[in-house]
Amino acid sequence: APTPRIIAVDGPAASGKGTLARRLARHFGFAYLDTGLLYRAVGLRLLRAGQDPADEAAAIAAAGTVTPAELGDPALRSEATGQAASAVARIPGVRQALLDLQHRFAVAPADEKGRPTPGAVIDGRDIGTVICPGADVKLFVNASLETRAKRRHKELLDRGEAIIYARVLEDMERRDQQDRNRSVAPMAKAPDAFEIDTTKLDADGAFAAALTFIGSRLD
Ligand code: CDP
Ligand code: CDP
Repeated sequence: APTPRIIAVDGPAASGKGTLARRLARHFGFAYLDTGLLYRAVGLRLLRAGQDPADEAAAIAAAGTVTPAELGDPALRSEATGQAASAVARIPGVRQALLDLQHRFAVAPADEKGRPTPGAVIDGRDIGTVICPGADVKLFVNASLETRAKRRHKELLDRGEAIIYARVLEDMERRDQQDRNRSVAPMAKAPDAFEIDTTKLDADGAFAAALTFIGSRLD
């Protein structure tokens, strides 16, 4: 079989990377993996078991048994789960335990019905740098902290999670810091990634910018 094409999409929380990644996957007929959900699944397991997300042994054990089947749980989207995800994501053994699943998806991407696809769109923090350093296309989606906090605040209110804007802003800043400064696979723009700033760009605008960049690289 021909080598699947890989589009890596990285960026901070609520930058619009998921919206863009999903749209690109639909456009190219590629499978999509939101790797943030893997870390969220580990964080949620610990929260539900009443364990501390900084408990390395518990987090590594949970990471070893995460399956794609549990990634549809709506509780994964909560702000508390996001914080727990960022805490477990600092633990090297957790990242190690989630490598295999991500690599298998990149080597043999398949849609929700298990049908092979000619490529994959994978989003996260370290896809272009660590998970798929040889990706055909690397995008880094960014936006100002205030814009991202406003977007996330609206999403949480729409989901019925009562939370004030100042709290979302503070949590997001803390999570950004933690993700940028951790020792293993920190969030970073790969040198060969194309940066898309969505502060003043809607989903259509971001998609158009990505397609223009991708045009010359994928056929
Ligand atoms: O949706 P949002 O951007 O808020 O977060 P997410 O992409 O679901 O990721 C949740 C957390 O998982 C992040 O804050 C990171 O700490 C971690 N993560 C990671 O370390 N590496 C990835 N490839 C994806 C997520
Ligand atoms: O995946 P990530 O956490 O980076 O962000 P997302 O879930 O794609 O987008 C977060 C929110 O921002 C969603 O409510 C999107 O509709 C919105 N958004 C936006 O306002 N402008 C964009 N260019 C992209 C997303």
